[in-house]
Amino acid sequence: MYKLVAFDAYGTLFDVYSMGQLADKLFPGQGTALAIMWRDRQIDYTRLVTMSDPNPAGSQHYLPFWELTIRSLRYVCKRLGIALSSAQETQLMNQYAQLAAFDDSLPVLARLKELGMSTAILSNGSRDMLRTVVQSNGLAPYLDQVVTVEEVKLFKTAPQSYHLLLDAFRVEKKDVLFVSSNAWDAVGASWFGYDVFWVNRAGWPFEEIGNQPKFQADNLTKLLDIL
Ligand code: LAC
Repeated sequence: MYKLVAFDAYGTLFDVYSMGQLADKLFPGQGTALAIMWRDRQIDYTRLVTMSDPNPAGSQHYLPFWELTIRSLRYVCKRLGIALSSAQETQLMNQYAQLAAFDDSLPVLARLKELGMSTAILSNGSRDMLRTVVQSNGLAPYLDQVVTVEEVKLFKTAPQSYHLLLDAFRVEKKDVLFVSSNAWDAVGASWFGYDVFWVNRAGWPFEEIGNQPKFQADNLTKLLDIL
């Protein structure tokens, strides 16, 4: 039924909230709050950049996701009253660069390739950071392409970002199953016209706007049941 299964990266294949554990070692008692606020501010910045200049040729305010990740870390530390040293910043960003994949990421990708599916990442991540995290987790052999919004300099949920998959794989919207753990990304992809599998790993409620995703489960393995 589908020709391409395309995955969001951060939070879907790679565990961003694991950053909280390192943050908690560095700043005891504040790691969990820091990780949640960091993630939210990082995504806020992608929206600020994109909405302030939604030019199809790319936003003039565009900064690579790696850079937005550093800037949002700095902001959140200031907000929490944490004095972030440059050594601590480097330590946190080094771990971010090599975030661990969830246990189900590699086996599910490998099985999709056995089933003859095309597989991709479609991520806000910049090219270098995606290359590093994909390679450090051994996922490269199971991904046909790693597609980044860097090509259009507009972050998700701009339609141009989701559209990248259609050109990269020469497929139509109906051929694509988009997989994300981020409910906002699930809404954006479904508004664009993709069927969506929402991996609700954290047991959170879905957004109060947009359609419910066509499929949802608490882990990626259940994806295999519908293909
Ligand atoms: C990504 C982030 C938004 O990988 O999760 O695109």
